[in-house]
Amino acid sequence: MTIASVDQAIQLISTGAAAGSTCSPELAAGPWEFDAGAPGYGPGSSMGDVIPTGSPRQGALPESYRVASPEELSGRIRAARETLGDRVVILGHFYQRDEVLRHADFVGDSFQLAQATKSRPDAEAIVFCGVHFMAETADLLSTPAQAVILPNLAAGCSMADMADIDSVTDCWEELEELYGTAPDADGRVPLIPVTYMNSSAALKAFCGAHGGIVCTSSNAETVLEWAFERGQRVLFFPDQHLGRNTAKAMGVPLDRMPMWNPRKPLGGSTASELHAAQVVLWHGFCSVHKRFTVDQIDTARREHPGARVIVHPECPMAVVDAADEYGSTDYIKKAIEAAPAGSTFAIGTEINLVQRLAAQHPEHTIFCLDPVICPCSTMYRIHAGYLAWVLEGLVGTVDRPPVVLNRIVVADDVAAPARTALERMLAARPPVPARQDA
Ligand code: 13P
Ligand code: SF4
Repeated sequence: MTIASVDQAIQLISTGAAAGSTCSPELAAGPWEFDAGAPGYGPGSSMGDVIPTGSPRQGALPESYRVASPEELSGRIRAARETLGDRVVILGHFYQRDEVLRHADFVGDSFQLAQATKSRPDAEAIVFCGVHFMAETADLLSTPAQAVILPNLAAGCSMADMADIDSVTDCWEELEELYGTAPDADGRVPLIPVTYMNSSAALKAFCGAHGGIVCTSSNAETVLEWAFERGQRVLFFPDQHLGRNTAKAMGVPLDRMPMWNPRKPLGGSTASELHAAQVVLWHGFCSVHKRFTVDQIDTARREHPGARVIVHPECPMAVVDAADEYGSTDYIKKAIEAAPAGSTFAIGTEINLVQRLAAQHPEHTIFCLDPVICPCSTMYRIHAGYLAWVLEGLVGTVDRPPVVLNRIVVADDVAAPARTALERMLAARPPVPARQDA
């Protein structure tokens, strides 16, 4: 049986019409079921993570969107798009469900979507089908007249939530006490903060205000080079794995990458470990990419001799080391596009992207390393029902004037320094391709 999308596969599995397994039977329900309930990340890979208090909550979605069939929602989205024309641009991350992504004007990884934000300054509204930190970034990079809309406010990112401004500020102050503030003979300051794009605007602002920068998974090596030119050490947050995998590939020894766990005194490291550090790694991770294991790679190689194993750098180091290659979502897509027909790929990243690549490339064999269907639980929160709701809001009706729903606005005092850190990233040299031999 050909399965068109992850959504469809989950529906078929949940009714027993198809074989396979998902990490939660609740994935078959509409995300509004979880928006209305207790705060949490909902079903999917990060459902076990603790959601911080005060995380944005989504209000009730009107019933007509909850009960509509996929075909009806698709028709309503298309009609609203047609009415709005160039007034709206829809951006979509690779991990979105196909039922949403098919309506996007730009599809890409977080670096490409940040760039795409700047490409349509004429559009009144940017509808961001991704997660909260991406919509914040779009607001930072768009013009003040443009409204950035996140169709479901509960679409956060559990990894981004693992570092908050208070804990990072506390860490910074403790490290400053340890390292002092004086530059070395080459003019390099003791510490440069580097935040992964997957972080709040407040953390990007912290980096902008402290001589630091933002990186994405497609330019982390370029950005670390930038930081090492200016600083003796780097404080890298929130993803320990991206930080470790990238620094290791650049030759930084593991014993010079101590961890900072905000719940432990001195981050759980000793003063001498921190003095010897080249990169201090924040104790954050992605629950989607934590699911991938070396055992899965061994199984894939056994069952598919000759398969190329490519994983995302948010995977743990042992998994990246056991893979043939690693790189951002766009790297994975391009590697598949460039391969000779008949290639076999075992992929370690979010299932919506893997399944889509498999459908788009029938000339290859492409499968996810994890046999369980377990999408990113926050990307899952964007559903075609929410997309139809925000677009029809922009259109308005005879009885109701147009309305901008779910606008994401970064406060001015945060926006200015956050933009500085983002502009430093965009000005850094173009993304380097991931290494071939991980
Ligand atoms: P990319 O930058 O590769 O799109 O990754 C974003 C992300 O959230 C991966 O989990
Ligand atoms: Fe966040 Fe992981 Fe989902 Fe990416 S895949 S948005 S890092 S939880």
